[in-house]
Amino acid sequence: MNHEPSGPFEAIDVARLRSGYGVKWGSLPARTIGAWVADMDFGVPPAVRESVIRVTEREDFGYPFWPGEDPVAEAFEERMAGRHGWRPRPGRTRVFTDLIQILQVMIEHATEPGDGIALHVPAYPPFLASIARSGRRIVPLPMRWSETGWGFSAEGLTGRLRDHGCRMIVLVNPHNPTGRVFTPEELTPVAEAAEELDLVVLADEIHADLVFAPHRHVPFASLGAPAAARTITATSATKAFNIAGLRCAVAHIGADRVQNALAKAPLDYFGTPSILSRAATVAAWREAGAWLEDLMRTLDANRLMVARWAAALPWDLRHHTPQATYLSWLDFAGTPIGDRAPAARLERRAGVKLSEGAEFSQDTEVDTASFARLNFATSPANLEEILTRIAAAHRRNGPI
Ligand SMILES: Cc1ncc(COP(=O)(O)O)c(C=O)c1O
Repeated sequence: MNHEPSGPFEAIDVARLRSGYGVKWGSLPARTIGAWVADMDFGVPPAVRESVIRVTEREDFGYPFWPGEDPVAEAFEERMAGRHGWRPRPGRTRVFTDLIQILQVMIEHATEPGDGIALHVPAYPPFLASIARSGRRIVPLPMRWSETGWGFSAEGLTGRLRDHGCRMIVLVNPHNPTGRVFTPEELTPVAEAAEELDLVVLADEIHADLVFAPHRHVPFASLGAPAAARTITATSATKAFNIAGLRCAVAHIGADRVQNALAKAPLDYFGTPSILSRAATVAAWREAGAWLEDLMRTLDANRLMVARWAAALPWDLRHHTPQATYLSWLDFAGTPIGDRAPAARLERRAGVKLSEGAEFSQDTEVDTASFARLNFATSPANLEEILTRIAAAHRRNGPI
């Protein structure tokens, strides 16, 4: 494979990004820089590009067919065993279009209207919206700030889940937006509570390939046979390999009762991801290792740039360097940007669009209104411009 170390990550093509159909840049006025939705400003791995071109040149756009198991399921099983030391149970992997679809399907098949669904808050906003819309109750497990990092308390967890009528836990690990990679010591009490209350755990591990050393991703289903038997592992190649728009994801269903319920659902309910999205996913998981390593070097340098910048500001911008993902969770409460809607203010004042923190606790009592999420998956030069603009907005006088 033709591979230039770190070359693809040194510069971005803003004209390409602005002229396409991507929401991150395409929806913004010309002076505004997009640093919000979790797409990267880079391209895709050469192997992914080539696989998409091959499918296109063959004009292979008909109904899909392959002999034997779905190649996406095979590539997923291979990757989990090879990279994360977890052997998925054969025959338990289903292909979906995206994780939000997986969440919706699992809510319907593992819970009833009115049931509680627990998850760490702040949380990926569409998950909160999806749970609320489905008529289930969000039971927030608040992420807590300390000087050493973000975490959560497992004290009284079982009682809390029981008292709130929980039937399911949605465990996003690595965690968006805090960038935490949960340790086995943190995950084990969650598995024990799930066991005691007979809960299904939906483990969203979409960011597992974006973990910075020395942190290590531990699949929830790898905690032991009891955990595996109640876990639905959901993931895709879309975050690490920048193909979110292609729409292909997988769910490995360890829980028998969910597997049985799904077996009864009409096939049409699940939709069919395209050949194009499947080919890209398989190429990403099987052939893009060197590209991913180079990407991680750039993201590592970028997260440290954010940390140095935050530390040098004359204000208390609370922030912990993420252990995974390309997202920084920034608390503007101690800054002149203020403790309400910092992203909206920065968009107006600095011409930089971040994700608004309040959305990450919507439909809950948790208050994250002083936060904003910064996406640093961009070139070092563009990141520097983003950070300079934010700092300059700080310095300006007058109402923000
Ligand atoms: C934790 C998490 N889950 C799911 C998704 C989205 O997945 P999909 O586009 O497959 O619905 C994201 C996107 O950023 C995410 O951060």
